[in-house]
Amino acid sequence: MDFHLTREQDLVRRMMKDFTETEVKPIAAETDETCTYPRENIEKLFDLGVMGMIVPKEYGGAGADDLCSALAIEELSKQCASTGDIVATHNGLCCGPILQHGTEEQKQKYLRMLTEGHKVGAFCLTEPDAGSDASKGTCTAVLEGDHYVLNGSKIFITNGYVAEVFVVFAMTDPSKGTKGISAFIVESSFPGFSVGKHESKMGLHGSPTSEIVFTDCIVPKENLLGREGKGFNIAMQTLDGGRIGIAAQALGIAEGAMEEAMNFAKSRVQFGRPISKFQNSQFAFADMHVAIEAGRLLTYKAAIKKTAGEKFTLDAATAKLFTSEAAMNITTKAVQMCGGYGYTKDYPVERMMRDAKITEIYEGTSEIQRVVISGNILGK
Ligand code: CAA
Repeated sequence: MDFHLTREQDLVRRMMKDFTETEVKPIAAETDETCTYPRENIEKLFDLGVMGMIVPKEYGGAGADDLCSALAIEELSKQCASTGDIVATHNGLCCGPILQHGTEEQKQKYLRMLTEGHKVGAFCLTEPDAGSDASKGTCTAVLEGDHYVLNGSKIFITNGYVAEVFVVFAMTDPSKGTKGISAFIVESSFPGFSVGKHESKMGLHGSPTSEIVFTDCIVPKENLLGREGKGFNIAMQTLDGGRIGIAAQALGIAEGAMEEAMNFAKSRVQFGRPISKFQNSQFAFADMHVAIEAGRLLTYKAAIKKTAGEKFTLDAATAKLFTSEAAMNITTKAVQMCGGYGYTKDYPVERMMRDAKITEIYEGTSEIQRVVISGNILGK
């Protein structure tokens, strides 16, 4: 196994580190406080080729590999998990399935929109009564001549009220269970598409989350993604890839929180010495380091296997489960390390702790990751 980054991967990491320091860090607290979508930075990320970076050059992208995308998300999330989330969703959950399952025409049209066209993408699977049990959605798609008519609503959609291209899952044959679900590419300009409730969340305040409503929404027949009835498989495969992005996001949050806590511990003097000189702090940082290193190896391994075209479902679920729980644990310890200061909004660790929580929930809860992992190692 090669533990070194390629030249391109190293370049991406360095570019994203600089971008995060100069553009993301300065506005991260304000983005959180004001619940503002970081539009200017997302535009700059389009200009840099990071939005849709996994898309091959012939469809307008940078042709980067999955590890490059994970590195970009990790670096951004060290300072602003919201920005990392917007990129992760766009790359993994919208560009990903179109790249993998789209026709040549769909790829030329939509991947170009999602890269050169600066249109943000989203993924609509979850419904009010179908979260972890993703196959129980009731959103329907009925073929009428040259178009499908979609009805129903989707909730907790990342990028929901800023996105213009959506990968949507709906029942084309409710009698067939998971085999009756199909995937569609839907534009926000299609008749019958609307944005519903904007969510007010514990964390990730810069990441726009909303309900998406389809009311007799007209979707051209050619916007069916993959074959009819293959939607659930497409959703599951997409989430396998998306989970690498969330693992990278959680990793970045954990790294950012550890760095903040270390800086604090080195300068905070109590009982006559910096608190970093107490073994209690030293052991806490040693444990954080071990968890981050392990999480990094799991995440990069999953990304490398995906790019190699190997089966990576188990690796992605393992990486997501481990890094998200590590992020929650490390951010909680970081707040504790900073004491009363850590609990205030003057220090970023309280935001990081709120942001970390969602990584244990979205794109499959920790419990669902355990279902996937145990299913893969024990057999169903
Ligand atoms: N890749 C491809 N196909 C897969 C697959 C995978 N990783 N996992 C399952 N499938 C296929 C199976 O092979 C099977 O297909 P066939 O019938 O053709 O054999 C079909 O899917 C059904 O499989 P299961 O019986 O295993 O499905 P299940 O109903 O038991 O569900 C589950 C399995 C793992 C619990 C799944 O429902 C799941 O992952 N749930 C979590 C959903 C989730 O992560 N939601 C996140 C929403 S998106 C989000 O959060 C982003 C946002 O914008 C906020």
